[in-house]
Amino acid sequence: MQILFIGDIFAAPGRRIVADHLQDICQTNHIDLAIANAENAAGGFGITPAVAEELFALGLDVLTSGNHVWDKRELFDYFARQPRLLRPANYPEGPGRGVVTVHARNGVECAIFNLQGRTYMPATDCPFRKADQLLAELDPAIRVRFVDFHAEVTSEKIAMGWYLDGRVSAVVGTHTHVPTADTRVLPGGTAYQTDCGMTGPYHSVIGVDIGIVIQRFLTGLPARLEAAKKGAELHAVIVDVDESTGKARSMRRHAINGD
Ligand code: FE2
Repeated sequence: MQILFIGDIFAAPGRRIVADHLQDICQTNHIDLAIANAENAAGGFGITPAVAEELFALGLDVLTSGNHVWDKRELFDYFARQPRLLRPANYPEGPGRGVVTVHARNGVECAIFNLQGRTYMPATDCPFRKADQLLAELDPAIRVRFVDFHAEVTSEKIAMGWYLDGRVSAVVGTHTHVPTADTRVLPGGTAYQTDCGMTGPYHSVIGVDIGIVIQRFLTGLPARLEAAKKGAELHAVIVDVDESTGKARSMRRHAINGD
């Protein structure tokens, strides 16, 4: 089966390029399950219920998130109504969950996990031990398991890939907004890429207006960050998974230039 994962959808340019291309990507690549990280989908910071609904309506089956998931308070109540929106599982108990099981279009039940790193990130529980716990609680009959690991540093992400090798179908990193070229299948059958990259405006500094960010570096003064508008690109991976074993056969990057 084929699983599509779209990297961090950033603001309106990111949502627009997903809207323009998702159906075509899914048809051309026979996608059975479509997942996206949407933590920056609302103006570049957080996600609102309306934006989440808009993305689900486009055909995304599950939305993952990260440290910006708490930016919009109106989202807190929404989690109870929409289990297909995840927040990192290793935050304290509270709104939302970090794992969901869904039936893909081919009828196969799949588990999607959202975890967050701890290096240069907000304080959370250990994502490695949380992964152990979530996998121990999962119905072992569910073989197809996808992990979005939202983290800053490459070493923590690579370590997670090795830690989960053979236990999940894929570990794909998010958060840095910069795609990496280390796409591979690890020896145990886990597809791995350190960062999927942003789906949003690349004429920017990781999605944000270039001039504002440079001023912040030059002066050290706070400035209101604004989403950039130009240079939309979509960055995704497509994982081919043997649904009987849960092992990945291959993973490839899929990118689209919008403007
Ligand atoms: Fe993030």
